[in-house]
Amino acid sequence: MRATELALGVDPTLPEPLFLQVARGLMDAIRAGRLRPGDPLPGSRTLAASLGLHRNTVLSAWRELHAEGWLQTHPARGTFVAEDLPLRRHRRLRAAPPAGVAERAGYDLGPLAPPGPDEALPRGALALLAGHVDVGLVPREALSRALRRALRDHGAQALSYGDPQGTLALREALARWVSSRRGLSAGPEHVMITRGSQGGLDLVARTLLGPGDLVAVEHLGYRPAWEAFEAHGATVVPVAVDHHGLRTDLLPGLLRRGSLRAVYVTPHHQYPTTVTLSAPRRMELLAFARAHRVAVLEDDYDHEFHYGARPVLPLASADAHGVVVYVGTLSKLLAPGLRAGFVVAPEPLIARLARARRAVDRQGDQVLELALAELLEDGELERHARRARKVYHARRDAFVEALTGDLGGVLRVEAPAGGLALWAPVDPSVNVERWAERARALGVLVHTGRRFVFEGRAPDALRLGFAALPEARLREAVRRLARALSPACGA
Ligand SMILES: Cc1ncc(COP(=O)(O)O)c(C=O)c1O
Repeated sequence: MRATELALGVDPTLPEPLFLQVARGLMDAIRAGRLRPGDPLPGSRTLAASLGLHRNTVLSAWRELHAEGWLQTHPARGTFVAEDLPLRRHRRLRAAPPAGVAERAGYDLGPLAPPGPDEALPRGALALLAGHVDVGLVPREALSRALRRALRDHGAQALSYGDPQGTLALREALARWVSSRRGLSAGPEHVMITRGSQGGLDLVARTLLGPGDLVAVEHLGYRPAWEAFEAHGATVVPVAVDHHGLRTDLLPGLLRRGSLRAVYVTPHHQYPTTVTLSAPRRMELLAFARAHRVAVLEDDYDHEFHYGARPVLPLASADAHGVVVYVGTLSKLLAPGLRAGFVVAPEPLIARLARARRAVDRQGDQVLELALAELLEDGELERHARRARKVYHARRDAFVEALTGDLGGVLRVEAPAGGLALWAPVDPSVNVERWAERARALGVLVHTGRRFVFEGRAPDALRLGFAALPEARLREAVRRLARALSPACGA
């Protein structure tokens, strides 16, 4: 067939690369029977000239078609349509049209758990949700530069299989950082990089817990952690929290109930009540753990965000006996979408976490890890922490003022010493769930006490996040919350 008779229909204005258009045109000609197995093709130079293309474009198309088995070349004779076309092979293999993905699984499935805490946000909603940070503050230019550099300068390392424990550069940077900022005295051998705190909690649960083990958790508390423990067979036992944090006096009683393997705590700002675990309780918890060989899983999710003079150091900084497993994250400090977290613990546990990780997702995102190491080492993350702390501090104050002014009659509002959310008990005369529903209808999203309950009655309270919205939007959200309460709305 002459080049001019092929009618490949190449159009340079289309977004599809020209060589793919040539390849596709040729496949269509073969499928339509205009070209048959064994037919010779015009020379690449001739075809390129007839299509007004560069010869390399035609050669690229040839290469593609060769790779897929549509063409074959006989040295010195030229290029021909393959005798055994992929088309025929498919036909032989598959008489029926390709099946779509079936509507139902062809095997038994357990019930689907109710939706988790991260349901999608309606567009434009004023989300007063705990745990949300303002990702607009993220130093994106610095992050992009660091990511580019990681790929450019360390591409061979970053794109290969690597250490399931995490890249050494980030483990070293984090070890220095938690040692200088959080009093932990760790080396890179004590650090495991994880996909957020959740990835860390899951790995710890996978490694330490099994059926029959008990895990004491704060109640009210953080459901995603409970779910990770339960997923690995452990039984979650709620322990009350008061104004000093976890009721450590209740822990000895749990020993009679079975094999207590771990206590999960959020000592810096208890989730959700924001209370800081008092110094005597810290000592009690560490002594209890040491005496009974129980692990303390310390979830220090918002360490940077304290608005008073002194940050409270983690429990791990006072742990001389290797009982604390310290779980940290960059989700609040930087951005939750990066899924960057870490565990600091004695080396034997870290080795087991790394081994367990190979079965989960093998290793982390090394490009990201190298970029984060750079941001930590050159101080960018610390500068960002200072900027964000200032912004969130101002937002906390504006939010507390607005809440006190507009809702002081129904909410008990106290400015939290730190963190990104406040805990506000609601007057019992208000139906909290109905209030939240009406607020949602007015475009404001809040978390009610129900979310933090393991068992029993939900407290009349809201946990309100203030970090993600600028002051004017926070005030608007509070006005709408007040409107959702008003008699006009029927609350
Ligand atoms: C108690 C607690 N732990 C951990 C996290 C952070 O989770 P991750 O690091 O998996 O994003 C949050 C975020 O809301 C939290 O509230």
